[in-house]
Amino acid sequence: MTKNSWETLNYDYYGGVLWPNLREHLKTPPKLHARISQDKSAQSADNEHRLFGHSCFIKQQRYVENTVDYFIDPASVFPVAALNVKDGCSVLDMCAAPGGKSLLIAGELFHHERRSSEDCDSFLVCNDLSQARLQRLQRNLAAHHGSDKRQYRVTISDPSTNSRVVSKYAPYDCVLLDAPCSSDRHRIAVDPLMKEWSLQSVKRTVKLQKQLLKTGLEVLKRGGRLVYSTCALSELENDLVLESAFVIADPVPHDTLLQQLEEKCGIDIRVVELRDPPAHDPPAHDPPTHDRPTHDQPTHDQPARAEMTHDGTADGAAALQNETAQQNELPVLTLRKTTYGFLMLPCDQGGIGVIYFAALQKRDIFACKR
Ligand SMILES: C[S@@+](CC[C@H](N)C(=O)[O-])C[C@H]1O[C@@H](n2cnc3c(N)ncnc32)[C@H](O)[C@@H]1O
Repeated sequence: MTKNSWETLNYDYYGGVLWPNLREHLKTPPKLHARISQDKSAQSADNEHRLFGHSCFIKQQRYVENTVDYFIDPASVFPVAALNVKDGCSVLDMCAAPGGKSLLIAGELFHHERRSSEDCDSFLVCNDLSQARLQRLQRNLAAHHGSDKRQYRVTISDPSTNSRVVSKYAPYDCVLLDAPCSSDRHRIAVDPLMKEWSLQSVKRTVKLQKQLLKTGLEVLKRGGRLVYSTCALSELENDLVLESAFVIADPVPHDTLLQQLEEKCGIDIRVVELRDPPAHDPPAHDPPTHDRPTHDQPTHDQPARAEMTHDGTADGAAALQNETAQQNELPVLTLRKTTYGFLMLPCDQGGIGVIYFAALQKRDIFACKR
C-alpha cells in the first residue's frame, strides 16, 4: 500500500478487520430507504415505519420515486435528530442544498398549522454556495411548507469567506453544518473521482470545513448547538476538524446525544466501538434461536415447501405471511463511536451511510461566571 493513499489512510483508521469489509460495502446499494412526505399528517404506507418527525418514513424496499415526496438515505436523519430542534427555534442550515436535511428541520419547526401570522417564532435559514442546487431546495421547501418568508429564507453565500449574509439573522439557537467533503461512497463509484483523490485535496477540504465551522460558531447563540456532519470516511474531515472549535465550544457527550436520538427516531439503535467487526443483517430466513424448529415442524427457510404439498394453500399463505413479516421488520441500526461523535457505515445492518456527525455546544461564558 502506498503511503498517503486513500487505502492507507482508511486502513490505518478503520483497521485490518473492518476496512476490507467496509470498502466492499461502499460499492453495494443500501438496503433501507426513506421518504419525506409532503403531507404533515401522513400515515405510514405498506411496510413503512415512522423514522423521524411527523412525515419521514423508512422501509426495506426501494421506493418508486415520485415528484410529491422527497427520498433520502435514512442515515441523513441522524445529524438532524442530533440538532434537537424545538418549536420556536431559529436554525441555520449552512450548506443546505439540495435540501433533504432542510426539509427534515422544517418538518420539526413548522409541523403544526399556523393559526395566525404571529403564532410561530420558528425560523429557518437555508444557505448554500450553489445557486443551481438551491433552486431544487426552494421548490421542495415551497411544496412542503409554503412560501412564507416569515418562516424561512433561502440564501446564496460562502460563509467560509464572508459571514455577512448568514449573520443577518443571527444569533441562531441551532446550526447545521453538513459540510462539503470527500464523499467517499460516491467517489468509489465514479472512477475519475477516485483518481483525483490526493491528501493535498483532502487538506484543502479540511481548511474549508474549519473556516465554515468557525463562522457557524460565530453566528450561534451562547449555549446553542451546532451539529457538524459529513459523508467522509477520514478522521481528518470528521473528529479532527472539530478540535479547531474547542476554544469556544465543547462536544456534547455521546450518552446525551444518544438519549436524544432515541427519543427522536422511531428505530432501534445499537452503539459499538469504531473498529468492532461489521454488524451484519441476519440471514433473511433465519428464525430466532428459541424458535428453531425440530425436524418435522415446518421451517421458515423452506419457502418451496408450499409447492410440495398437495393442496398447497395453507402452507403457501403462511410462507407469504412470513416473507411479508420479514420484509416489514427493520434491522437495528448501528452507530459507531468516534472520539467526539458517531459514524454510520454501509458495512453494518441496513447498508446505509456513510454519515459522520457530532454535536458541539457553544460555551455560555455568562452562565459559567454565575
Ligand atoms: C454535503 S452537501 C449538503 C447536502 C445537504 N445538507 C442535504 O442534506 O441535502 C454540501 C453542500 O455544500 C455546498 N458548499 C460547498 N462549499 C460551500 C461554501 N463554501 N459555502 C456554502 N456552501 C458550500 C455544496 O454546494 C453542497 O450543496
